[in-house]
Amino acid sequence: MTVERVFVAGAGLMGHGIAQVHAAIGKHVVLFEPDAARAEAGRERIAGNLDRAVAKGRLDAAERNATLNRIEATADAGRVADADLVVEAVFEDLAVKTTLWRDLDGRAPKDTIFATNTSSISIDRLAEAVSADRRTRFVGVHFFSPVPVMPLIELIRGSATSDETEAAVRGLAAEMGKQVIVSADRPGFIVNRILMPFLGEGMRTLEEGLGSADDIDTGAKVGLNHPMGPLELADFIGLDVCLGIMRVLHDGLGQEHFRPPKVLEDLVAAGHLGQKTGRGFHTYPRG
Ligand code: CAA
Repeated sequence: MTVERVFVAGAGLMGHGIAQVHAAIGKHVVLFEPDAARAEAGRERIAGNLDRAVAKGRLDAAERNATLNRIEATADAGRVADADLVVEAVFEDLAVKTTLWRDLDGRAPKDTIFATNTSSISIDRLAEAVSADRRTRFVGVHFFSPVPVMPLIELIRGSATSDETEAAVRGLAAEMGKQVIVSADRPGFIVNRILMPFLGEGMRTLEEGLGSADDIDTGAKVGLNHPMGPLELADFIGLDVCLGIMRVLHDGLGQEHFRPPKVLEDLVAAGHLGQKTGRGFHTYPRG
């Protein structure tokens, strides 16, 4: 299975980065959002990332232009018709993902690989949205944010995923210079199973008044050598995304330490979703 044309569904925090890393290894990328302005905003974000890399001397201007020219923003789902690979990076919600996969399954060629960037939802549950034939080519490919920087891909096979599909994903990861780990299809997979209790305990520590948000984050950064503290990292990932993942973990595994903290529920209910809204556990300058 050779992959030359990639259709990325979702142009948000993960989707734009996923489009960028595929274009950077020479793939033609169609970046899809049902809203044309959002698709274009995703492409603009990639232009900004590439401009920063040029300014830092890590990329030359010709390569920047070539990478950006390989990315087309669209609101037309029909553009999936010539894709070798679809990567889905839409909101972490079973119904949203299922609706999209069902639609794309009807439009894409029969041998197109379907990769979901879900961070916690079962691959077998998601694969139910596509035809039985497609399930051998349905796979979990979980990237980490910021996608151009983080060198890990978590690969999750569903019960029908074929060896050829896994090999195609491994080939792309090797071209990107990213390392692959394989997780069983269990809630949260490996990385979020480890990460979410850490973020949750950071939040409960704040709730219980053990320390200020700054001191909790400084504790993890200076005392544990983490690049970001738990509250800062939750803000960076998006508090709505963290809440969605914690719910999947808590519902699927039942243990109390996966329960979303009240402070997180309250912030999300108030629309404070972290960096993207300018306020979460910390505040951020807009734009
Ligand atoms: N997009 C692209 N590149 C970015 C970027 C972005 N959003 N943010 C930073 N970078 C690049 C910078 O250009 C810089 O590149 P060079 O070293 O080549 O110049 C490099 O990253 C470091 O950036 P900075 O010096 O500006 O900032 P920093 O040293 O504070 O690092 C960070 C920023 C890389 C984000 C770092 O703080 C970090 O590693 N944080 C933890 C990130 C993490 O844990 N991610 C995983 C989240 S979990 C997830 O994504 C999965 C899930 O399912 C929830």
